[in-house]
Amino acid sequence: MIDAHGHLEDQAFDQDRHEILANLKADGVDYFFNCGSNLEASQMAVDFSEKYDNVYAIVGIHPLDADEFSQEALEKIQAMTKKEKVVAIGEIGLDNHYDDSPSPEDQEKAFRAQLDLAVDLDLPVVIHTREADQKTFDILKAYKEKYQNFSALLHCYSGSVELMREYMKLGFYISLGGVTTFKNAKKPKEVAVDVPLDRLLLETDCPYLTPEPFRGKRNQPKYVAYTAEKIADLRGMDLEDLVKATDANTLRFYRLTND
Ligand code: NI
Repeated sequence: MIDAHGHLEDQAFDQDRHEILANLKADGVDYFFNCGSNLEASQMAVDFSEKYDNVYAIVGIHPLDADEFSQEALEKIQAMTKKEKVVAIGEIGLDNHYDDSPSPEDQEKAFRAQLDLAVDLDLPVVIHTREADQKTFDILKAYKEKYQNFSALLHCYSGSVELMREYMKLGFYISLGGVTTFKNAKKPKEVAVDVPLDRLLLETDCPYLTPEPFRGKRNQPKYVAYTAEKIADLRGMDLEDLVKATDANTLRFYRLTND
């Protein structure tokens, strides 16, 4: 099974991240994609990818870290993409949830600059969007219309089924995590059932959004199995068939295979 998105660089793993990284395979996680959110986290993701065979890195500046964004930061991100196992730019996007966030203008500037970088380098992008569904969609749609090869993953997708279908028309992917196991999560469950099987990825977003039965505790890559079980159950599918599909989708989205 693959965890398509998580953050083992997070301080929640200061005590045991290398133990977790070294044990991924033994824990049933064949590949792990460590996603950056600022320069330091991105560099740590690159370091993990160099040290561990089955770990890949995604580098970029999160909208809530947009204050860190500058031309110099962009050049540092670009330099990191030269490393062999950096497979995407992310997580990038827009986040209007907090009152003290970087301004919408600063967020959009950082977002667009990193989208341009991804286009220049022909890399896929991993998108974080919160309370900015329409704006994010409009921006990504415009990129897709301009650049045929442009590819995006909406990570921890939390939008509506209708919006998900619009993203599918653009050829994009979504990933779902622990929220799909929460009792009160109606929309993510609808999305999990409705999304085409060849466009769905599974993730933990660890250390956040821990699936049931561990909700409230620290998340980690191996818990992706609980999300997989839940989604297979919701879709009325065999777990094995679901995982086969989501694993293949992950490797295809990150351009590690041709299928
Ligand atoms: Ni994340």
